[in-house]
Amino acid sequence: MAILSIRIIGDPILRTAAEPVTEFGPELAKLVADMFETMDAVDGAGLAAPQIGVGLRLFTYNVNGQRGYVINPQISNGDETQQGAGEGCLSVPGLGFAVRRFMHTTVTGVDLENQAITVSGEDMLARCFQHETDHLDGHLYTDRLEGEDRKAALRAIRAAQYQKITARTASTRAQSVGSSFGGLA
Ligand code: NI
Repeated sequence: MAILSIRIIGDPILRTAAEPVTEFGPELAKLVADMFETMDAVDGAGLAAPQIGVGLRLFTYNVNGQRGYVINPQISNGDETQQGAGEGCLSVPGLGFAVRRFMHTTVTGVDLENQAITVSGEDMLARCFQHETDHLDGHLYTDRLEGEDRKAALRAIRAAQYQKITARTASTRAQSVGSSFGGLA
């Protein structure tokens, strides 16, 4: 297993819709294992594949002891919304803003054997599912901010000079992501 470097806002892959997973084999299993290891190493609640430079539709999650992954996820949300709780993102380091999300989310997808799975969550877990699925469509949580929060986030992102961080992570990309998804990495 390996800890992968996390792409930072400004990296185009975070703004690109990811492709469905179509090959289920040892490389995919390794990717999921590496994503768990990477998520755990930074104490993350969730990690989507584009965040480690792989343009495929899958994510891992770990919220209040509920832990897993979903490949090719589709979400459906209940009508009830939850009040904006502080949300952050490994790809937008150092920031946190309140985002309005749905209270109940069900995710359907497949596992490493391409067998159908369904997981449901509420509150923080539902929030995580919505956040990670957004990543697969090229969206960041900061896109969902409104008004003063949105302005504050954009100012903070500009001030943080993430380009320098991006340059550093790009230089280590080759070793960390490896060649298993070479065409996409
Ligand atoms: Ni995120």
